[in-house]
Amino acid sequence: MMQHLKNGTIQQFLSSDPSGRQYLDVIRELMECQEHISAEGLSMINSISAKLHHISEIIELQQRFMGELGTENMVQLGNILDASVVIFEESFNKRNVTISQDINRELPEVLIDSSVIMQVFINIFKNAVEAISEENSSNKKYNIFLSAKKALLEGKNYVVIAIRDNGPGVPDEIKKKIFDFGFSTKKNDGRASHGVGLHFCVNSVAKYGGRMELDSKQGEGAEFRVILPLPDTKEGLPGVA
Ligand SMILES: Nc1ncnc2c1ncn2[C@@H]1O[C@H](COP(=O)(O)OP(=O)(O)OP(=O)(O)O)[C@@H](O)[C@H]1O
Ligand SMILES: [Mg+2]
Repeated sequence: MMQHLKNGTIQQFLSSDPSGRQYLDVIRELMECQEHISAEGLSMINSISAKLHHISEIIELQQRFMGELGTENMVQLGNILDASVVIFEESFNKRNVTISQDINRELPEVLIDSSVIMQVFINIFKNAVEAISEENSSNKKYNIFLSAKKALLEGKNYVVIAIRDNGPGVPDEIKKKIFDFGFSTKKNDGRASHGVGLHFCVNSVAKYGGRMELDSKQGEGAEFRVILPLPDTKEGLPGVA
């Protein structure tokens, strides 16, 4: 461990190394045995330990779902949604955003690149969190509702994943351009990319013969739907968004 400290890779050691990951638990147990230790110190260790566990959980999930880019596999979309929620758990908790869900766990699997579809869900969650943070109304209880179900559209079977937030919603005048490359209402804080999230989503979903939809009423929230064809549905949906 001293070598790790000298090399300045303590965070890496604590979060990635299997023995390193046990250190904070051991420290916490030792501290619990010391009666004179301050509650503040203990709660700090608890918080760091919980964060590191969360980080390792995210890394594990990413390794599990993120196969090689460009590799398509049969995937259960509910599982990818679950993994995306874990990644955002801390952001949701910080803003008191609750998650509710109605996910059909018996859905047929979809042939898709799981890393791409995970990125689609992540972009939608990120937007919901950003919209909620910006509105930050004290008299609202923020919630994100997830659903996954099968639907028969134009005589073909699709899976519909809906991610609905009760944030500020999308004004009518921007609905038409919301999926356009470069369209953003966010302040440019020096980051290179702005307005690329939903464009990536719509393009990725279209690549697999699907489409995206948006339902929103200003002040009431927004629902983004990812609609993907089930294996028996060969042709894609007409039009996008
Ligand atoms: N859940 C939502 N509620 C309200 N507005 C939203 C929501 N999701 C997206 N938007 C609006 O759509 C715009 C485009 O979203 P998109 O993800 O493409 O870009 P961005 O979030 O602005 O930037 P980037 O994703 O590149 O960081 C946002 O700037 C925001 O105005
Ligand atoms: Mg975005």
